[in-house]
Amino acid sequence: MEQAVEALLERDADYLSKFSVFNDQTERKQIFESLTKTIEFSIAVETGTKWANTTQYLAQKFSGVPVYSGELVRESFLIARERLKAFKNVTILNCDSRDLIKTVVALPNSKSEVPFFYLDAHWYDDLPLEEEIELICDNWGSFLIMVDDFKVPHDPGYGWDDYKNGKKLDLEYIGPVTSRHKVSIFFPTAPSDHETGAKRGSVIIARGQNVLEQVSGNTHLREYFQAKEA
Ligand SMILES: C[S@@+](CC[C@H](N)C(=O)[O-])C[C@H]1O[C@@H](n2cnc3c(N)ncnc32)[C@H](O)[C@@H]1O
Repeated sequence: MEQAVEALLERDADYLSKFSVFNDQTERKQIFESLTKTIEFSIAVETGTKWANTTQYLAQKFSGVPVYSGELVRESFLIARERLKAFKNVTILNCDSRDLIKTVVALPNSKSEVPFFYLDAHWYDDLPLEEEIELICDNWGSFLIMVDDFKVPHDPGYGWDDYKNGKKLDLEYIGPVTSRHKVSIFFPTAPSDHETGAKRGSVIIARGQNVLEQVSGNTHLREYFQAKEA
């Protein structure tokens, strides 16, 4: 943290840019880029900003689209906000991830947006992921969610989060919320030994005809479960 603040004050962009985007995972970036090429997202939301490494990447990739990111820890929020202050499309808030999503819900015309969510606010025993997904499903018809640190079935080479309270980021944990709402589930096609960087697992949760058409045809993703749209 101290080094990050010094780098920021000295405008040492090299130091800050060496922090990884999407955990330095090439396959993950390809999933993201292939999705953003084919789906016209109108807003992007990241939970868990930390020092805005991935936020900066999102800000550049979604240059004409608003990007919202929320961070609980005040010091990290201050670093992130300072670092990205030149990006006019970015709003960083110092808040809990569930409040960030509620803030986005309350924006004018928000429910007609097609949002991209990057859910990465899982570090502490208070795990917000289930409620984050619930809020998204309750408020948008079409969306795409990418969850970091998620267990990829049949590929233990991808890492996932396991907590002291017995919870882990896996299909069993999100099962109640994903089965209540009609969502489809996808995992990376690439085996973990083709992935680079931290090799953290991920899951894609999607809903809405236009979004699903693109996700289903995406060779970087394999379908795990496709919900029947009403
Ligand atoms: C893995 S880091 C995020 C990394 C960042 N997304 C990136 O790619 O560079 C997780 C961050 O989430 C924050 N966090 C944890 N729980 C949170 C919550 N409930 N609401 C908002 N932020 C939270 C932590 O303080 C930490 O900075």
